[in-house]
Amino acid sequence: MSMENRDAPATANGGPFEGGWAASDLKLPPVTGAAYAAKRRAAVSERFPGERIVVPSGGLKVRSNDFDYPFRPHSAFVHLTAEQGSQAVPDSVLVLEPTGSGHSVTLFTRPRSPRDGGPNGTEFHSDRRYGEFWTGRRRTLSETADALGIEAAPRDDLDRALRPDVPTRVLRGEDPRVDALIDARLSPSPHADAELAQFLSELRLVKDDWEIGQLRTAVDCTIAAFHDVVGELDHATRLARGERWIEGTFNRRARLGGYGLGFETIAAAGAHACVLHWMRNDGPVRDGDLLLLDAGVEADSFYTADITRTLPVNGRFTDAQRRVHDLVSAAQAAGAAALRPGARYGAFHDAAMRVIAEGLDAWGLPPHGRPGAASGSSSEADLYRRYTVCGSGHMLGLDCHDCAGARNETYLGGTLKAGHVLTVEPGLYFQPDDLTVPEELRGIGVRIEDDFVITADGSLCLSSALPRGADEVETWMASLR
Ligand code: GLY
Ligand code: MN
Repeated sequence: MSMENRDAPATANGGPFEGGWAASDLKLPPVTGAAYAAKRRAAVSERFPGERIVVPSGGLKVRSNDFDYPFRPHSAFVHLTAEQGSQAVPDSVLVLEPTGSGHSVTLFTRPRSPRDGGPNGTEFHSDRRYGEFWTGRRRTLSETADALGIEAAPRDDLDRALRPDVPTRVLRGEDPRVDALIDARLSPSPHADAELAQFLSELRLVKDDWEIGQLRTAVDCTIAAFHDVVGELDHATRLARGERWIEGTFNRRARLGGYGLGFETIAAAGAHACVLHWMRNDGPVRDGDLLLLDAGVEADSFYTADITRTLPVNGRFTDAQRRVHDLVSAAQAAGAAALRPGARYGAFHDAAMRVIAEGLDAWGLPPHGRPGAASGSSSEADLYRRYTVCGSGHMLGLDCHDCAGARNETYLGGTLKAGHVLTVEPGLYFQPDDLTVPEELRGIGVRIEDDFVITADGSLCLSSALPRGADEVETWMASLR
């Protein structure tokens, strides 16, 4: 059904905006993932027969006064619509309405702002959040329908469209007005909503071919950004807040080649590398130190990479830095070798930590605590958790820490399947004030992180084009400087 008439300006209202507007064409590239998103909606339909499913995109969040943070739709919404970057419209709501044989699908979204009045009054020029004079041209409803292959209707019609006698599940907490509407008019069921959220998270565990293509795009752009950073290292050493220069260099490439960042860039020089999520990035970058750069470009499709390299700022590792880097590199290789379909999810972490534990033991570093005390596992590697702290990876996709709402048995306590995409990122962090380690190691932090897809018989490293081993890193850096 065409909704073109719902976008059309209606009445003239006089004043400076009346009349004189030409039709404007919006030339958009086709949304290549639409057919894949349709399959995901079919899976939702099959899982919840006879029930209405409501998945809001979420809306704008105020930064201050009349400024908002940039809009980024909820990942479950993106997964089911294949909505793209700048085209995403705040306050959209995807509704799967039960029919005799399945569900009909409608995207309730904001139509264009009419230039000279009509149903949306003066929105075009007077509404800073949504008026096109302020925020730019949106798709018409029919352009949205064509792009995504989903019937589109005005968001303002949502209230009327939701008949009260249909059991309804909502992805709760994303759109307060939708939650309130359902609470007031329908029969809310917190348990049913939680089950929906969990299902939508688990639906993202296995990536299809299109998603893997998007992750490749994100990874390739991230690799280009790492190249940019190496080219700027010398300049960064001359600045009081060189970490910020590194962050800005990475982020510029992310905005150029993708939608932005999958998470705030971690640009940690010197002992800041021992802070797992150092995002303040307000320190200097010194000749002789390491720079730990943990960053990911989010593609226009909202899929993100997540890659870490720990680089010698002057292009050459010191002996102590190289020793730590080599051990982390060996641990990462052991973790990667444990990736295969059918393997326990935790196996790659255990394999990486075993290498770390053996290495630290050989260096004579003291174990701490009791096996299993920290993680609940019985691994001897726990004895070195003082220097490793966190897990060695996570699922990756639309979110950096993807599928976080999945049940233990399908994720952390489950087994790997072909199509899972995950990071392997062991690290060693010797705090600058840790008297249990030799002085030359204090203040050294190293993490190495790559992105892997599980294949039919093993795994494939999506980020293998970025140099990883110490020799490789030095050769690569020399070639760029
Ligand atoms: N790249 C940040 C993290 O995985 O926590
Ligand atoms: Mn990570």
